This record gives sequence, C-alpha cells and structure tokens, in this order.
Amino acid sequence: MPGNHRIVTLDGPAGVGKTTLAKQVAEALGMAYLDTGAMYRILGWKLGPDAATLPEPELEQRLAAFRFSLSGSGAHSVLSVNGEPVGQEIRTEEVGMLASIVGKLPAVRTALKTAQQAMGAATPLVAEGRDMGTVVFPAAPCKIFLDATPEERARRRFDQLAGMGHSPDLAELTTQIAQRDEQDRNRTIAPLRPAEDAIIIDTTTLDIDGVFQAIMAAVESCR
Ligand code: DC
Repeated sequence: MPGNHRIVTLDGPAGVGKTTLAKQVAEALGMAYLDTGAMYRILGWKLGPDAATLPEPELEQRLAAFRFSLSGSGAHSVLSVNGEPVGQEIRTEEVGMLASIVGKLPAVRTALKTAQQAMGAATPLVAEGRDMGTVVFPAAPCKIFLDATPEERARRRFDQLAGMGHSPDLAELTTQIAQRDEQDRNRTIAPLRPAEDAIIIDTTTLDIDGVFQAIMAAVESCR
C-alpha cells in the first residue's frame, strides 16, 4: 500500500481513549485524523444486526451506497458519509455493539478497508481503530497500540457518556465493554491485536496528557 509513510496508526480496545488522543496527536502533527470506529458505527446503526443475514450480493449493494470522505485537518478533521458529517447519535454503547457485530462480516471489512486506504493515500493520517496497524496500513512506520484494564476503560467511557448528557450505568458499561472486547479480539478477520512492530502503551495509570506525551515520544522514535 503506497503512501503509508505518512500514516500513524493508533489501535486499541473500546474505551481506551483512542478518539480523543488521535484528535490531539493529529493536531500536534498537522495531520488529519480518521476515526474508523465511526465508520463501523455508521454501518452498524444504518444496517442493523440483520446485516449478518443478508445474502452477500445484497449486502455488497447496500454497502456501495455509503460514500465516506474526510475533510479538514488536526482537531478539525471531519468524517462525512454521503456528504453529511457523522454526528453524536452514533456515540452510544448500543451502537458500539452494533458496529462490533457488523465488523465481523467480510464484505463490511473489505468495503471499509478500501475506503480507509483511499483516504490514507490522499491525506497524511492519524488512523485509529482495531486493525489499522495489522491490516489496513501494515507498512506504516509508526504503529501504536493503547491498552488499559477493562474497569478503567469502562470508567473512561462512563465519563465520556456522562459528559455528553447521557446517564450511563457503570456496571452495565463494564459488561458491555467486556462483551465487545471478546467479540473484537476473537473474530476471524482482522481481530484486535497489536501489530508485531507496534509500540504498546499501557495507559491504565496515566491521564490523557500522560498518554499524549507517551504517544508523541513514540512517534518521535519511529518517524
Ligand atoms: O472504536 P469504537 O468503539 O468507535 O469502535 C466501534 C466498534 O467498531 C468496535 O467495537 C469494533 C468495530 N471496529 C472494527 O472492527 N475495526 C476498526 N478499525 C474500528 C472499529
């Protein structure tokens, strides 16, 4: 895949803080950031769990109707689908689970990988997700994998949802995050795991600024 020298990949499990950090790192590096979880969330939300029962040609036809584009740079990067910026309605844990379900389907992964690679060929990117370093941009020189305990990730997701005006339940979030981990790590195609040459950062005891500094130091060492 050409153009990967301009890509920083940021992978990790649900709730680890990838989106916030990708935004900050992209801003600091003057690159765009691509939230690939948002792409899976849109498809999960629009197609629903029944996507898994559609005949392959019908699913492919439905997938072809989603056109993703990326504009802007740094913290002002905007991901759009069919010309409409992706909104906050996809940011619930229920939509996260739907994203994880459709993310198991080969046709979905192929369609999104093609769209993600096209964006990476057009723009220098901080690309965040589950399989950025392993599958989508395997030749990127800078691969970072963030991790944290499930309890800490549930707590972070709780703060994020509460900050958006939702009323999350911490125990329920912990269970949902554990289910999503199980599903994302154990699927057959593109499971969540660090690339062999990824720099792994355990963020459990770090605050956002601490993780940001650790990522910037890692990026310095691999550029
Ligand atoms: O990062 P997130 O929580 O927004 O991602 C939602 C789900 O989408 C995640 O549980 C699995 C799926 N996903 C994926 O399979 N591959 C990616 N690169 C990004 C997300």
